[in-house]
Amino acid sequence: MEKNNHNIALVTGATGGLGTAMCHKLHEDGFFVIANYRNDDKGKAWQEEQKTLGFDFVIAKGDVTDFEDVKRMVTEINENYGTISVLVNNAGITRDTPIWKMTLSQWEEVMHTNLDSVFYCCRHVIEAMITNQFGRIINISSVNGQRGQFGQTNYSAAKAGMHGFTKSLAMEVAKKGITVNTISPGYIGTDMVMAIREEVRNKIVEQIPMGRLGGTEEIAYLVSFLASEKAAYITGANYAINGGQHVY
Ligand code: CAA
Repeated sequence: MEKNNHNIALVTGATGGLGTAMCHKLHEDGFFVIANYRNDDKGKAWQEEQKTLGFDFVIAKGDVTDFEDVKRMVTEINENYGTISVLVNNAGITRDTPIWKMTLSQWEEVMHTNLDSVFYCCRHVIEAMITNQFGRIINISSVNGQRGQFGQTNYSAAKAGMHGFTKSLAMEVAKKGITVNTISPGYIGTDMVMAIREEVRNKIVEQIPMGRLGGTEEIAYLVSFLASEKAAYITGANYAINGGQHVY
């Protein structure tokens, strides 16, 4: 893919279901995609698998919960490929349990991976975006950050915090050609959702007016649009894509 100073996209947590769909769609729409991963075995296996599907992605190892490691990763990307113009903060985990059973590490792991990482990644890309007078930041939140979910005090807090961050950063960089938006997916057919106990998951699906889980590509379409030059006037927004599960 031909690179220019508006189309170099970094997707964090790219090896997961949503991340992979985003990489595919961004690539199809003309972006030079850099796929972040944390675990060596998983990252390299993913890259090989993508090659067999016809996608030759650059991969970038980096622990998004580590401020200095993100700095190193972003510096290397900037030196090797050019300024990151699109950042998709997609890396996320769950550690679901009611608060009376939640350990400190279950709280901290989720806050570090789902929220601190957003600051770390934005902090390290933003100055180059300002110099470039162009940037697109897309934060992947959740319906459960908008409405809450039994068993997810940690996750819902992090995901709600993400949109507060989006709104403030959107204001700070609006005059610099940079947009910042949140997407809040509902229950999408990823490994994360399939890990929910079947009977619990079935009850959740019953509450979704569309009666089904979402498809990963149904999130990726919007990511790619928000990443495009056409989306220049959209900033500070939070897009719900949840099959009607939470309307407000
Ligand atoms: N509302 C009210 N009470 C509930 C409840 C709910 N939604 N869910 C469970 N409870 C109650 C149960 O009735 C039970 O009560 P009693 O002890 O009085 O019988 C008690 O809570 C314990 O329930 P479980 O037996 O289910 O407890 P557990 O410890 O085995 O599991 C849990 C708890 C892990 C939170 C499990 O209920 C669960 O997986 N829930 C779904 C959580 C969820 O939706 N996670 C989303 C993951 S995907 C994601 O996060 C992506 C995204 O962005 C959407």
